[in-house]
Amino acid sequence: LKVPKRRIIVTGAPASGKGTQCEKIVEKYGVVHLSTGDLLRAAVKAGSPLGLEADNYMKSGQLVPDQLVIDLVKEKLNDDECSRRGWLLDGFPRTRAQALSMQASGILPTHVIQLNVPDEDLMDRALGRRLDPETGKIYHIKTNPPPADVAGRCIQRSDDQEEKVRNRLNQYHANLIPLCEAFKSILVSVDGNRSPQIVFEDVDKLLSQSSSSQDRAHRVP
Ligand code: AP5
Repeated sequence: LKVPKRRIIVTGAPASGKGTQCEKIVEKYGVVHLSTGDLLRAAVKAGSPLGLEADNYMKSGQLVPDQLVIDLVKEKLNDDECSRRGWLLDGFPRTRAQALSMQASGILPTHVIQLNVPDEDLMDRALGRRLDPETGKIYHIKTNPPPADVAGRCIQRSDDQEEKVRNRLNQYHANLIPLCEAFKSILVSVDGNRSPQIVFEDVDKLLSQSSSSQDRAHRVP
């Protein structure tokens, strides 16, 4: 299989803007976007065996067991489109076990971008988020409201409730150090507490860096 030129991981706390930045990355670089959150929500909606197993964890804001997510991602990365266009992992890996499993399978990123946003801003972002189920576009009721012709069909995610967001944040912090450690030679932190366009300027700079840095192999210690 061809090794794609761009193999990107975007990581960050719940509602730190991963999905928002990933939309922009896909638009510019044409990579295949694999969001484990979106894939799991689709599985829940379809009532597949994976969805039935994942549902209870997701509802309460807990992480889905590693092996379920690892199998899901590996299956998706096997797709020819991923080798041809490159890939963008959004929300994976999230634990050290997930990172180790990637490496053991020879799945090595060229870029790991972490979006940094203070916890106190994340709650407001999550509670105000609205999604257009037809296009997948992400909005915010205050800072980025959906256009009038779209607003009526926008939905709120069931895990965007205060207590569940708090659980998701706790999970994030519990895994943060081992995850950063796993990618420390390649991880670049970006200040995500600015407008989406300004954040993207930094992300874009990192992704357009010379091919020598893109071809860097990376090993989880
Ligand atoms: P997932 O869907 O990955 O949720 P998450 O990590 O909590 O991240 P979000 O989707 O909430 O936020 P985001 O960072 O994409 O922010 P967004 O761009 O939407 O996972 C959901 C669940 O699935 C998990 O809890 C777990 O159960 C399970 N799961 C998924 N992956 C797993 C894994 N690997 N292992 C185990 N379980 C897994 O933006 C948020 C809001 O902020 C929007 O309203 C947006 O408009 C606004 N916004 C965005 N950028 C900015 C900005 N720069 N300034 C101001 N507002 C902004």
